[in-house]
Amino acid sequence: MVPERFLAYRIHADGRFGSGRLERMGRAELDAGDVMVGIRFAGVNYKDALTALGRARLARKFPLVGGTDLSGIVESSEDSRFRPGDEILIHSFGLGSHHDGGYAEFGRFPADWIFPLPPGLTLLEAATLGVAGHSVGIALELMERNGLAPDRGKVLVNGATGGVGSIAIDVLSKLGYHVVALTGKIGEAAYLHSLGAAEVLDRNTLQHGAKPLEEETWAGAVDSVGGKQLEWLARTMQRDGAIAAIGNAGGSTFEGNVLPFILRGIRLLGVNVNNPVETKLRIWRRLASDLKPRHLDRIVRRIALDTLPQAFDDLLAARVRGRQVVDFDSA
Ligand SMILES: NC(=O)c1ccc[n+]([C@@H]2O[C@H](COP(=O)([O-])OP(=O)(O)OC[C@H]3O[C@@H](n4cnc5c(N)ncnc54)[C@H](OP(=O)(O)O)[C@@H]3O)[C@@H](O)[C@H]2O)c1
Repeated sequence: MVPERFLAYRIHADGRFGSGRLERMGRAELDAGDVMVGIRFAGVNYKDALTALGRARLARKFPLVGGTDLSGIVESSEDSRFRPGDEILIHSFGLGSHHDGGYAEFGRFPADWIFPLPPGLTLLEAATLGVAGHSVGIALELMERNGLAPDRGKVLVNGATGGVGSIAIDVLSKLGYHVVALTGKIGEAAYLHSLGAAEVLDRNTLQHGAKPLEEETWAGAVDSVGGKQLEWLARTMQRDGAIAAIGNAGGSTFEGNVLPFILRGIRLLGVNVNNPVETKLRIWRRLASDLKPRHLDRIVRRIALDTLPQAFDDLLAARVRGRQVVDFDSA
């Protein structure tokens, strides 16, 4: 039974790009959809922090319930594909930017956006993976389609302690890759080794060099940092090496040299989670089976809805390790 009013973290049209706060909202205020969901868990993503704190023009309607990914239980459905009690997950499709997202006790969504929870995952595990895990699954498929295999050499994971980075280390090491974690938080080396990193490098002491072609070091790279780091990565890739560019936590722009591309044939692969439904389904099935990280319990930190503002600050200041997930039962 969905109450008339419930708790939500909503972004309003204050400031330059909006600003968020915890409040009570009415059931009738939720965006339209065929399926009413009782939300159990919602991930805290870099983009969600930027949206809530009005750091970028991401919110496309006001007020807006924030949150890009969630898992929960169907309360009621006007679509025959879903029944009350079904366990589901939802992400992307403009959630938390164009359509009300996961930071509310209840949400209403179009049935076409909803995926049944794949066998092999719990609701908490699905939210721990969220768009971060989904992007890692896509990155892995893209890199392997471009020739990456464990016997090709080392794979670098940049932004290693972040949500994307932690999951990437876990998945790649499970698949037999020699994973090198690059982090700004060298104090978290033990955590990174415990996820499967064979080596841990300190970003603060890294020598970037200046040559267009530095020593060939990486067969593959998962980069959620961007900026100068991405430019350095390109210069240090092995012949035919593949970089999966997932994020821009360290900057959106980078200057580059074309020589690694034309002399070493390196591949720069863009990762985007707004892919076709069939792709999403395949990736989720894989995340629940062969790509399922072994240490999700170590990666997740459950937080209460009313601690979101602190969670956003911590995330943007790179103080977070792993994935923060709002647990609606922990209030
Ligand atoms: N392409 C897609 O579809 C997709 C999907 C999910 C996420 N993303 C993007 O991927 C990036 C990472 O997401 P996430 O969820 O992993 O975020 P996160 O948990 O905040 O992790 C980002 C990590 O990057 C590192 N970092 C390096 N420079 C930083 C800086 N100047 N500010 C903040 N962090 C910095 C930090 O790790 P260390 O201290 O260990 O270096 C930080 O923990 C974001 O840009 C996000 O928008 C894209």
